[in-house]
Amino acid sequence: MKQIVVLSGAGMSAESGVATFRGSDGIWGKYRLEEVATLEGFEKNPELVLEFYNTRRKQLFQVSPNDGHKLLAALEHQFDVQIITQNVDNLHERSGSKKVLHLHGELMKVRSVDKEGEIIELSESNPEIHVGDTCSKGYQLRPHIVWFGESVPEIDKAIQLVKKADVFIVIGTSLQVYPAAGLLNFVRKGVPIYMIDPNDVETDMDLYNIIHIKKGVSEGMKELIGILFK
Ligand code: OAD
Repeated sequence: MKQIVVLSGAGMSAESGVATFRGSDGIWGKYRLEEVATLEGFEKNPELVLEFYNTRRKQLFQVSPNDGHKLLAALEHQFDVQIITQNVDNLHERSGSKKVLHLHGELMKVRSVDKEGEIIELSESNPEIHVGDTCSKGYQLRPHIVWFGESVPEIDKAIQLVKKADVFIVIGTSLQVYPAAGLLNFVRKGVPIYMIDPNDVETDMDLYNIIHIKKGVSEGMKELIGILFK
């Protein structure tokens, strides 16, 4: 089976009603990244940071996978599809995609601040953590999110997956954040790279030989499926 590898970003979930980070209505226009997405920010004001992620976690129960997620999941009937996502939502999984690697963590999981800390899965009936909530060893719980300045533990696994791609698809990411954006460098020569994004993305399109489908994810996925099955 042909191996499709997908790198997705916030634009993947935009049509589900999940805000992107850098657009005009983006999250980083409303919140200070240093305050809510760094370890220093968490140490300074943990309640603010926990609340930011509690709110986003609860939003997950108000949204559903869009047609883009669903069309991507349906590709698994004909292809071996591996998704590498920068998204911390669970919409790929909820649309039926089986192989999803989360580079930047997952909203539904929390872990203790202890380095070897256990990972705990939250649920719809128990979606919040607060200062004072601890793991079984007594360490404070924190979101299972890769914050700026922290290492990306899954990056090596992601690189190995990208190297195996027969088709590489980039969906809804501004490619501003590394090391995720650098994954493009590991696509083998000659492998087609498709990008679905309604806006211009600042990357070296010619160097990477990217075919840009300049549409939102649902319409873009329909067009891409037409190309893949031609
Ligand atoms: P960005 O907000 O930087 O980029 C979102 C991209 O989605 C942009 O290129 C938009 O043009 C595109 N987009 C918007 N609507 C779309 C639609 N309907 N269909 C397809 N694409 C659409 O988000 P990311 O690139 O995911 O990290 O950001 C990368 C990382 O930066 C995130 O994982 C997050 C953030 O800070 C952490 O929080 C650690």
